[in-house]
Amino acid sequence: MSGAARHRPLGVVTRGTTNPNRLRRVDNWIVATCADRLLAAADPLVVDLGYGATPVTAVELRARLAAGVRPDVRLVGLEIDPARVAAATPAADPPGLTFARGGFELAGLRPVLVRAFNVLRQYDESEVPDAWRTMTAALAPGGVLVEGTCDELGRLASWLLIDADGPRTLTLAAKLTTLGSPAELAERLPKALIHRNVPGEPIHELIRALDDAWQAAAPYATFGPRQRWLSAVTRLRETGWPILNGPNRWRQGELTLPWPAAPRGA
Ligand SMILES: C[S@@+](CC[C@H](N)C(=O)[O-])C[C@H]1O[C@@H](n2cnc3c(N)ncnc32)[C@H](O)[C@@H]1O
Repeated sequence: MSGAARHRPLGVVTRGTTNPNRLRRVDNWIVATCADRLLAAADPLVVDLGYGATPVTAVELRARLAAGVRPDVRLVGLEIDPARVAAATPAADPPGLTFARGGFELAGLRPVLVRAFNVLRQYDESEVPDAWRTMTAALAPGGVLVEGTCDELGRLASWLLIDADGPRTLTLAAKLTTLGSPAELAERLPKALIHRNVPGEPIHELIRALDDAWQAAAPYATFGPRQRWLSAVTRLRETGWPILNGPNRWRQGELTLPWPAAPRGA
């Protein structure tokens, strides 16, 4: 009996909406910031949990990791919907890319990294902590979960890096050429934060501060949205927000900071 067959998949079938290239922002961030974990792993196993109606984003993640981190990466796409597992099977390319039925328990696998995107959004907020705990308990030692949300085309995205102790970082990411203002990111927060975007909560403070910095950086718009974003992020950092990574990541339209966040100036 396979590992997948021994475990009852935890979770429920939800809408399968997906799109090619929708998850490129989080994939590029994973390649840039999680490569060390994968390179150090004896078994570089990655799970894409809840890949949806077609396996296209799982295929893309495997390709990005194989090209950008290590060619022997093994990606297993897990879906709770058996029909979606059957539909994905023709896209398998073993041993580097396979598909199986599984849920938050990760089907008995012990991956170094799990990407779960646009999965928890369709659950109740009260179900999120248990889902995180179940997934992180199944990780290989030192493994991480990247859990987040994006819009249909992946122009607005946000995600949390979570380990066995809970969320470690929050990343907000946007396609800068179509971004009106960073406040738009509020619509695409991870499930755990979406209802917390109210005065007094760090996520509300952060989005407001980022929006203010973006307005203050308006003169840089003449040099393009990238320069404007860089200026806004630099300004935010100067006001005390503990922004991580560096300009190489910021210029991609990203912002990563420890989470739960220290309020401004703390
Ligand atoms: C909106 S689709 C997301 C597809 C893809 N990850 C993306 O972001 O484009 C969500 C998928 O997650 C699956 N799903 C929901 N809960 C799950 C669980 N606990 N374990 C595995 N898959 C799950 C649903 O069946 C659905 O196909």
